[in-house]
Amino acid sequence: MTPVALVTGGNRGIGLGISRRLLTDGFAVSILATREEPTEVLTELRELAGSDDRVRYVRGSVAEPEDHERYVADAVDAWGRLDLLVNNAGVAPSVRADLLEATPESFDRVLGINLRGPYFLTQTFANRVLALRGDLAALPEPPETPVATIINVSSISATAVSTNRGDYCISKAGVGMATQLFAARLAPEGIVVYEVRPGVIATDMTAGVTSKYDALLADGLAPIARWGRPADVAGAVSILATGQTPYSTGEVFHVDGGMHIPRL
Ligand SMILES: NC(=O)c1ccc[n+]([C@@H]2O[C@H](COP(=O)([O-])OP(=O)(O)OC[C@H]3O[C@@H](n4cnc5c(N)ncnc54)[C@H](OP(=O)(O)O)[C@@H]3O)[C@@H](O)[C@H]2O)c1
Repeated sequence: MTPVALVTGGNRGIGLGISRRLLTDGFAVSILATREEPTEVLTELRELAGSDDRVRYVRGSVAEPEDHERYVADAVDAWGRLDLLVNNAGVAPSVRADLLEATPESFDRVLGINLRGPYFLTQTFANRVLALRGDLAALPEPPETPVATIINVSSISATAVSTNRGDYCISKAGVGMATQLFAARLAPEGIVVYEVRPGVIATDMTAGVTSKYDALLADGLAPIARWGRPADVAGAVSILATGQTPYSTGEVFHVDGGMHIPRL
């Protein structure tokens, strides 16, 4: 059976890298994003998959719980199973503002998309996996291989402060706690949960701050002194998504060129 992956924001940037990699790994991939159907990207992905039937696109917002139901139901109706959720979609604050000036509106927008959204999408996904799993629920011991996997894309900002985007940092720190919460709750159900924590990755999100990070990288920001690429994050997702780490859950996988290592 073809394993089924849901990748939020899988049409651009890091998410597109993840969609490409999962298709190469043999998954069917359904993407949730806000914009109108991105025809060129979907054509590329379907060519990569070698089939039109392995790629779906649902237009909606991860911030809207009613879209969660629609998104998950669409994949189950099409493919009859769920194996992987990658909570990748996320936004930076529209304006970087100092902690003493940032607005509640920005806080609500960023937290709504980056934290509340994946938190409740995970709830919807997990409940549907349990419903699909049926009789397995009666098994007295955890299964040898995960029944399903959830991967949250957080950020180095989960631990590194940026005083001009506190809302973003708090949303990603919250994703770290959500990872541990769902890992603990879902382990008895055979579902494993991981956090992938990127550093500085070249995408639309960072396009406006290229020169800033060029200078910081030249100045030693990360031991591996280059920008990360979506494919770097996708490689970590691929390892965690393909059942190779069945006795680990709640883990953080850094994809940041070693930036998180405290150095003197
Ligand atoms: N780039 C970095 O350096 C970096 C570093 C650490 C962590 N991250 C995290 O990695 C993830 C992906 O970032 P990226 O750099 O690839 O960003 P990006 O290039 O700006 O792409 C963001 C993706 O999220 C989707 N999205 C945004 N709001 C959404 C919503 N309300 N509902 C559904 N989809 C939504 C976008 O869909 P549309 O096309 O419809 O807008 C797009 O596919 C984010 O969670 C980000 O915080 C990025």
